Amino acid sequence: MKGRYDFPLVSPPTRQARVLVVDDDRAILGLISQYLAHEGYEAVAVDSGPAALARIDEGGIDLVILDVRMPGMDGLEVCRRIRAQGHLSRLPVIFLTADQHDELKEALSLEAGGNEYLLKPISRRVLALRVRNLLKLANADREHQLMAQVAHAEKLAGIGQVAAGVAHEINNPLSFILSNVASLRGYFADVKSVLEAYHQSPEAGRALESELRIDGVLADIEPLLEETMQGGERVRRIVQELKTFSRGEDETIEEVDLADVVRSTLLLTERELTAYARLVKDLAPAQLEHASRSRLHQVVLNLVVNAMQAVQARTLQPPARHTITVCTRTEGHTAVLSISDTGVGVPESLRHRLFQPFFTTKPVGVGTGLGLAVCALVVQRLGGTIDVDSTEGEGTTFTLRLPVDARHAPEAQLPGAAPVARA
Ligand SMILES: Nc1ncnc2c1ncn2[C@@H]1O[C@H](COP(=O)(O)OP(=O)(O)OP(=O)(O)O)[C@@H](O)[C@H]1O
Ligand SMILES: [Mg+2]
Repeated sequence: MKGRYDFPLVSPPTRQARVLVVDDDRAILGLISQYLAHEGYEAVAVDSGPAALARIDEGGIDLVILDVRMPGMDGLEVCRRIRAQGHLSRLPVIFLTADQHDELKEALSLEAGGNEYLLKPISRRVLALRVRNLLKLANADREHQLMAQVAHAEKLAGIGQVAAGVAHEINNPLSFILSNVASLRGYFADVKSVLEAYHQSPEAGRALESELRIDGVLADIEPLLEETMQGGERVRRIVQELKTFSRGEDETIEEVDLADVVRSTLLLTERELTAYARLVKDLAPAQLEHASRSRLHQVVLNLVVNAMQAVQARTLQPPARHTITVCTRTEGHTAVLSISDTGVGVPESLRHRLFQPFFTTKPVGVGTGLGLAVCALVVQRLGGTIDVDSTEGEGTTFTLRLPVDARHAPEAQLPGAAPVARA
């Protein structure tokens, strides 16, 4: 069973925060730079708007202290231009102004994208605190973005993994469907030209019929059609099962008795099953308050088919000696379903892979490797567990434990959580 990956979150190497100070007044530049150096920051001083933008462009600036009034390009314009660049939209900016407090100016500077607005003369302590707080916020923001990126990358990796498998699984039947259709088209052209020849004269028809060996063509058509249908069915099955992997599809959530689900599944499969094994049913009520009947049907069907195939694969044993046992029961607040078989069993070395999508030991055309992955997913959504107990050469038991009321299950509906499957 594949667990979740832990992405180590590597913090960027710690360095002194670098603060850009922009003021046309050299004395103030010197003073603020000194304050900052004293607080342990690296100060970079420039005396005009264009010089500030050029320095920010070079990169590595963590915060900007910006004079509002400067000749040429004023601080508001510098700030607007910073914010206009998407990647700088979160760079902290503190405005400094020598004017009396003016509400309109303050509003304008905040509107331009400034985070703080300070009046000169500057209180060294207040400046230091504002710088520290803004840098802290910016760091938290960066970490948050990093986490979001990691989560996104993880999701993409998952989608990529499934997509690659799906592409492969679908490509195979699709390529023989296409090649069969190409052959059928050729055969159709042959048969059509023979028909046309018959319309001219029976002799011409017979001659062309034997020349084109229509006997062989006709004998070929049926198996080709059959194989093409099977290929199409296989693609459809893959697509259908894949739907389970996407959330939010239309499912009726209702009260469901697992015993009923088993009965209706066996209705469809019992005849085939009993050709390979004795079927033992021990079905006590196992009511689930909020579950999807169709999903549970899918789970039981996958487990029953697996059991049947495991028994079939152990051909040395005569069918009469095999048993498939299906049990349902309620234990306290847990509904339990178990399906046992006396089939081939699972080698220890493969046990951890059983629930991975597309893991199969069955030949092409028999298994797609989605059955147990679907089971694990459905069980996970219901907040339950699925266990496998197997001895190679003796048989296997799958046991599902589902909380009667899935709404109160701690693990239910956890997006992206690994299915709770134990092998
Ligand atoms: N009852 C069982 N006995 C022995 N091996 C099993 C049993 N159930 C599952 N397995 C093993 O686990 C593998 C994965 O099972 P899963 O149901 O996911 O896929 P599959 O049966 O191969 O294909 P699919 O179910 O998509 O048609 C099987 O190929 C088989 O090797
Ligand atoms: Mg299966």
